[in-house]
Amino acid sequence: MAKPQATPNHTPLDPFDIILFGATGDLAMRKLMRAMYRRIAAGQIPKGSRIFALARSDLTTEKYLAQVYEHFKQFLSEGELAPAQWDTFCGFVQYISVNATVASDFEKLAAALKGREDLVRVVFLSMAPSLFTATCANLSGAHLVTPKTRVVLEKPLGTDRASAAAINDLVGSIFSEQQIYRIDHYLGKEAVQNLIALRFGNTLFEPLWRRGRICHVQITVAEQVGLEGRADFYDQTGALRDMVQSHLLQLLSIIAMEPPVAGDADAVRNEKLKVLHALKPITGNAVETHTVRGQYKSGTVKGKSIPGYLQEQGVAADSRTETFVALKVEIETWRWAGVPFYLRTGKALQEQIAEIVVTFDQVPHSIFEAGKVPRQNQLVIQLQPDESITLCIVAKTPGEVMRLKPVNLSLHFTDTFKEKSIDAYERLIVDVAKGNLTLFMRRDELDAAWAWIDPIREGWNQSDEPPRQYVAGTWGPAASNALISRDGFSWHGEDG
Ligand code: BG6
Repeated sequence: MAKPQATPNHTPLDPFDIILFGATGDLAMRKLMRAMYRRIAAGQIPKGSRIFALARSDLTTEKYLAQVYEHFKQFLSEGELAPAQWDTFCGFVQYISVNATVASDFEKLAAALKGREDLVRVVFLSMAPSLFTATCANLSGAHLVTPKTRVVLEKPLGTDRASAAAINDLVGSIFSEQQIYRIDHYLGKEAVQNLIALRFGNTLFEPLWRRGRICHVQITVAEQVGLEGRADFYDQTGALRDMVQSHLLQLLSIIAMEPPVAGDADAVRNEKLKVLHALKPITGNAVETHTVRGQYKSGTVKGKSIPGYLQEQGVAADSRTETFVALKVEIETWRWAGVPFYLRTGKALQEQIAEIVVTFDQVPHSIFEAGKVPRQNQLVIQLQPDESITLCIVAKTPGEVMRLKPVNLSLHFTDTFKEKSIDAYERLIVDVAKGNLTLFMRRDELDAAWAWIDPIREGWNQSDEPPRQYVAGTWGPAASNALISRDGFSWHGEDG
């Protein structure tokens, strides 16, 4: 079976199998099938590989592909859905109707996989975590777990520390830790890779990357979208578990970690874990002072009126699920003592943006006239919608008088590089096929993240206060501004 040519942008892979559970689900239709389609079109998933799409619905492969096609019309950009590429993609896919909780259903899968035992198997569990254990047990019962099988677990893994541990115990009784890929798609984003390059490929920032140089750090992942038809999942989950426990804490770990001794999976994950262990617990009164949770009410986003969260279909009328979270986080290490990290994320917000803003200290002594104190330097790393790194410095406006002005040194990735960046899921699926665990969460990382998150949720549960309301299309509840302005700062983009 042919191995494709290496290109500067990707390494060749041997043929492998993808076994996708939850193939009719939202994530599969929006992101996973698209990622595979693109990697096939790029020539990275070689002929001889197969995609086994599994779900409960009684469908033929043709009917399943017709559904995929409808989604592709929406989620692929124009020109990508060329007939020849689509035909090639179809040749890789086989749909098999499998109820993951019914052991006998796995016989169909076993028959399809017969003779393919020597290939890498990527088992992707794009399903409710409550189904992980039964699925893994049934895979094992049908003797489908070969030494080259890798299992990909989608987040959120569990709903708290105890449930995550239970899932990890069971999955761990069937797969070794080296075979388990806990996905956090933020780690696959090109801009997050770039953050690692920025920190550890340059000597420039490292001496400044600490207390005494950095004043505070902000991480914002703001979404304009609301529930997008995921009320069942979201109302049980909320922003803290959906976004903070995973994506925001992972970003925080990468920003705050010590330089790893090497770039391999365990060296990087060891350092991220130390950050998670060093997070100051938010318990007792700190839940009140260090956290803000919000829930959107009706408003206008991108010129369109949207209903309030409680009016969304499928949401309990008295739901206290938070659609917005802002946190003040402290890291108890020599490097970061006294440097606050502010995190915020939410749905139905004013902008769709993910960014990290590092604000440096004020000059220790200003030689300029009173009232003309230069603005602090800022490093703004934008992850989306566009990928860019901007260093805001102070310069003199040309002319006779000394007039200071903040100006930007900017790196926009699309302007600078002609190579197209690849989507997070494309990269991560390829990483699993390659056996590269660097961008996946290790069990102890996940455990540490839940251990820190659980007391916040418990604090909220014990409080009589409901989440604070905010108008859809704004930046969240006013209390979010109060959280940061108490320390004398303001959220980036809202600082005038
Ligand atoms: C997912 C969350 O993990 O990330 C969603 O479950 C959220 O609620 C999504 O919308 C955001 O991802 P991205 O890549 O669109 O920023």
